[in-house]
Amino acid sequence: MTENIALTHQKQRAFQPHKLSTPRDFVMPDVIINNKNGTPLVLEIGAGKGKHALSFVTQQPDKHLIAIERTRNKFEAFAKHAELQGASNLDAIHADAIAWIVHAIAPSSVAKIFILYPNPEQHNSNQQWLNMPFFEFLLSRLQVGGEIVLATNIETYMDNAERQATDVWALPNTRCSVPTDSERTHFEVKYLARGETCWELRMNKPEGYKTRVDEWKVNSKF
Ligand SMILES: C[S@@+](CC[C@H](N)C(=O)[O-])C[C@H]1O[C@@H](n2cnc3c(N)ncnc32)[C@H](O)[C@@H]1O
Repeated sequence: MTENIALTHQKQRAFQPHKLSTPRDFVMPDVIINNKNGTPLVLEIGAGKGKHALSFVTQQPDKHLIAIERTRNKFEAFAKHAELQGASNLDAIHADAIAWIVHAIAPSSVAKIFILYPNPEQHNSNQQWLNMPFFEFLLSRLQVGGEIVLATNIETYMDNAERQATDVWALPNTRCSVPTDSERTHFEVKYLARGETCWELRMNKPEGYKTRVDEWKVNSKF
């Protein structure tokens, strides 16, 4: 790990990717081994039953989506629909996204990352995505100009994420409320039907952004 570079962000605790072992049954997707056409790569973390993933790949055939879900029953529902749909620009992955991304995704290779309605983690806010050291790793995988889209119905989660994006991660960001007729995910549909406000934060990786894991690849030695 490079120790003496001027970091763009203020996060003190460093993520330690070398401590994560390879996910069980790990298979590297073809699009990562052989993306000759330079198709933009998009990630979705916590895809649930895949409602967003399945419509995204139809609406954006020029992009390749890797959608990751760790809960078995949700993933199985997602995988069944994905198989029926047969989209060639989708990989549905059953794994913990943290270990999987560490083992599969190269630095500066992702155009966009969706985190839609993550678990609220109200009793353990260290587990909220922008509070985690892993968020630095995620930023290292994003291309310059790439975007992270976070949505939640929990206003305090959004307030904290917005504050962390600006104060800790130094990311240009915009916050807005999700249109009341939006239907991207099952949770979004449920929350909006209950009359709740849903929030969205879009964060962009600026030119020259530096993390401690910019060079890290599987098998790199710190
Ligand atoms: C509240 S649900 C939202 C699902 C979907 N995005 C939606 O909006 O309908 C959050 C999902 O994230 C998944 N999840 C949480 N942490 C994860 C991780 N580290 N890797 C993969 N999936 C994760 C959970 O299993 C759960 O299905």
